[in-house]
Amino acid sequence: MISIQSAKKEFNQILKENGVADYENNVTQIFLHILNCSRVDLLIKDSISVEEYSQTKKLVLKRADRYPLQYLIGEVEFCGNRIMVNPNVLIPRNETEQLCDMISKTADNKSVLDLCCGSGCIGLGIKANSSADVTLVDISPKALTVAKNNAKLNGLDVKVIKSNLFDKVKGKFDIIVSNPPYIKTKDLLELQPEVKNEPMLALDGEEDGYAFYRRIIDAAPKYLNQNGEIYFEYGVGQSKTIEKLLKKNFECIKILKDYYNKNRFIYAKLKDIVC
Ligand SMILES: C[S@@+](CC[C@H](N)C(=O)[O-])C[C@H]1O[C@@H](n2cnc3c(N)ncnc32)[C@H](O)[C@@H]1O
Repeated sequence: MISIQSAKKEFNQILKENGVADYENNVTQIFLHILNCSRVDLLIKDSISVEEYSQTKKLVLKRADRYPLQYLIGEVEFCGNRIMVNPNVLIPRNETEQLCDMISKTADNKSVLDLCCGSGCIGLGIKANSSADVTLVDISPKALTVAKNNAKLNGLDVKVIKSNLFDKVKGKFDIIVSNPPYIKTKDLLELQPEVKNEPMLALDGEEDGYAFYRRIIDAAPKYLNQNGEIYFEYGVGQSKTIEKLLKKNFECIKILKDYYNKNRFIYAKLKDIVC
């Protein structure tokens, strides 16, 4: 048996030396995952087996290589759902929960299309917290496998469509929500090491970072019911351009802040007369 205190000290040191922020919490999370125990059990535990030590160390070393913690552990909690993640999907961000919460409050009995769904976190969050009828769309078959498994894991009944944006989507919706890829291609090389492990398909917003917003905003009027609404998440500094794109066919545009007081979401309502 190995003393858990000495193992913790060793692993904290490894992550600290490799520049992992919040390294103590990372070590705790990895222990909880390997030992499959509660925080309280971990606190009162004195020792671990050699096998548990080496399994934990293996993940700590991967984390030291800046492989994302969430991929190591394989799941995150999002809007009350358990969302499984792997390198085929973007890791759901805390901020995105706020988008989900806002929509869930108004989505009862409405139809919602989650475009670029990835793990399904947004659409599944809305489904779990409202009586909306939810459709998930992504171009990546591997991401859709994750999204379908997440729907099943949480007992949520949603439609799932493999489609290049609206290409295979039929019918109209009351709400369209999307957190599309929005990073400029030339900025992809400068991302944090952790983010570089996420799928490029989920990040690459093409030359100026607005390619997906343009395509979605142009096509959305055809897929929205009267009084239909659209919500986007976007990156730092992108709100004004997206607002301009929306103005042609949308009104009541609102730029919304995230928990960190940064402009992060935008809301708009379809105009009665669309150009
Ligand atoms: C930024 S991720 C968002 C994932 C998830 N909605 C979230 O908030 O965590 C963008 C997603 O868009 C998908 N995607 C990229 N190009 C697409 C396209 N042309 N049509 C549909 N989905 C696309 C990617 O596969 C990826 O899952």
